[in-house]
Amino acid sequence: MINEKLPKIWYGGDYNPEQWESDVWDEDIRMFKLAGIDVATLNVFSWALSQPNEDTYDFAWLDETIDRLYNNGIYTCLATSTGAHPAWMAKKYPDVLRVDYQGRKRAFGGRHNSCPNSPTYRKYSRLIAGKLAERYKDHPGLLIWHVSNEYGGYCYCERCAEGFREWLRGRYGTLDKLNKAWNTRFWGHTFYDWDEIVPPNELSEEWGGNRTNFQGISLDYRRFMSHSLLECYKIEYDELKKHTPHIPVTTNLMGTYPVLDYFEWAKYMDVVSWDNYPSLTTPVSYTAMVHDLMRGLKGGQPFMLMEQTPSQQNWQPYNSLKRPGVMRLWSYQAVARGADTVMFFQLRRSIGACEKYHGAVIEHVGHENTRVFRECAELGGELQKLSDKVLDARVEAKVAIVFDWENRWAVELSSGPTIALKYVDEVHKYYDALFGMNIQTDMIGVEEDLSKYDIVIAPVLYMVKPGYAQKIEEFVRNGGTFVTTFFSGIVNENDLVTVGGYPGELRKVLGIWAEEIDALFPDQKNQVVMKQPLGSLNGSYECGLLCDLIHLEGAEPVAEYGSDFYKGMPAVTVNRFGQGQAWYVATSPDAEFLGGFLANLCESKGVKPLLNAPAGLEVSRRTKDGNSMLFLLNHNPEAVTVELDGSRYTDLLTGKSVSGSASVPGRGVVILSD
Ligand code: GLA
Ligand code: ZN
Repeated sequence: MINEKLPKIWYGGDYNPEQWESDVWDEDIRMFKLAGIDVATLNVFSWALSQPNEDTYDFAWLDETIDRLYNNGIYTCLATSTGAHPAWMAKKYPDVLRVDYQGRKRAFGGRHNSCPNSPTYRKYSRLIAGKLAERYKDHPGLLIWHVSNEYGGYCYCERCAEGFREWLRGRYGTLDKLNKAWNTRFWGHTFYDWDEIVPPNELSEEWGGNRTNFQGISLDYRRFMSHSLLECYKIEYDELKKHTPHIPVTTNLMGTYPVLDYFEWAKYMDVVSWDNYPSLTTPVSYTAMVHDLMRGLKGGQPFMLMEQTPSQQNWQPYNSLKRPGVMRLWSYQAVARGADTVMFFQLRRSIGACEKYHGAVIEHVGHENTRVFRECAELGGELQKLSDKVLDARVEAKVAIVFDWENRWAVELSSGPTIALKYVDEVHKYYDALFGMNIQTDMIGVEEDLSKYDIVIAPVLYMVKPGYAQKIEEFVRNGGTFVTTFFSGIVNENDLVTVGGYPGELRKVLGIWAEEIDALFPDQKNQVVMKQPLGSLNGSYECGLLCDLIHLEGAEPVAEYGSDFYKGMPAVTVNRFGQGQAWYVATSPDAEFLGGFLANLCESKGVKPLLNAPAGLEVSRRTKDGNSMLFLLNHNPEAVTVELDGSRYTDLLTGKSVSGSASVPGRGVVILSD
């Protein structure tokens, strides 16, 4: 349990009473109670308020707020406020200001704006975290620490450059090793002195965010920045733990946010939390995948849904309202996939600045007679009734998809063979096929143990880190089924090509050699033609993006290309290796192929769908103490009926007994417990 003080699904969100006059505070409390809210996230952006100058701290407003909430049965998720530095700090100590990608020294403004290597930022964020921890360590209302907010962005200042050189010394030891790792004899880049190395931005090696002349330095700068920001988090973490070793600490992540290596970050978080902001058009399978990824960051441990909007965002180009029922549906989607909290940004809509049109539990009208408030209050009541039934329940999967941020950086920094290759999209194609069949899937990092899975899929495993090929070999040798795709096994952790034939270190387990890689224009297609039927697969399917031209070295061809000069060359292969199988999908096939392909693999391994559900009905299962809870989430606007197995279930939300089949209302949710 995240914290035993509140043994239910936490319900609440970001609350900024400091932006309001005191006359609304009692009204807030009255409405929070009506909505069943039991946790408020405070102090996210209040650094300037609590520390008006270098020597003065004034937490009176926070004392009062935490007390008022607690006296009314509402706990505090207490942020450390370091997500935006005060203006006085920027004026007095310009080292807190970042230098941007274009090489410009930033002025005060915005948020998430501090240089992660600024001694001033580190000093004062440590200090304020310590003061908060000391002050509230014994407060019974303190539920969890929320360090800073949505860490992100990079800095390219002189201090970061110095820090980078230090970090590089630690990583490579000698310049000789660094020169080799970055292949600096290319374009005459040999470094003779550490001080010659400068951060890769638009003044040096990069342009457009992820285009670079030198993958080695660009990759290392991403590692270094992720590490630098993590250091800032750790400074605060340690300070908080000194005073409150038993209070959990988190920071809110952003799903597939490209900038930070979240698997690395999660090691230092007591519980993962994240902010979920899908738009009306985001595929539900994409959101499901991200929930699974957030659960995977800490090996399946339940996570927190820290933020979502009850209705609309303000920062998307078109900020649609969540349709009636959708807020509840998407909240349960998070819970179904491992969340033990449902929290919003924000509890009351602000009146000024850029988030005034962002949805909130309490809207500008100020009373409870709104659609949004009614939906929030209904959900709040339901979560109270659910009490601790779902808490700590696990999601169990036999299929895993590998996701690796460093590999993603390398893929997207790559110059050639195509600009159209987006790592997350390729991962999502495989996830979506499994999701469509309601096959429970884990999203795992490269450090995860593979032996608990029957099937491991690593789309575009371009970068193979030391030891990973051996790990895959062992998994397959022991009977596992491994799947990888085109453009895999190409480089090592420094983005240096493994010579001797693609897919490099994976060549042995896959039993193939990829001689060339063809990049297709967006409207150009080839075909994957089955050599013989495989499950439901028969005939020809479309493929595109990249086509590897492969030769068999022990693998068997399952499908071949249908056109172009490589017509007849293998497009999909399987290699029997030890007790298992290693599959290579040499191109990016259409969804129909992937659906049939993965259905066949799952069937052959005895991995069953949770239910044979109609389209648009998402199914997920959480299990606790041998008791399983089946979540049926109907994303269709109309009701659907699903056939159940022979068991008798209890509907956790209505208490009714269910058997034979279950009917789920349009955009409705049913939770069946056995
Ligand atoms: C993020 C932030 C919040 C708020 C919301 C708005 O998730 O953490 O402070 O800005 O976005 O959607
Ligand atoms: Zn900096």
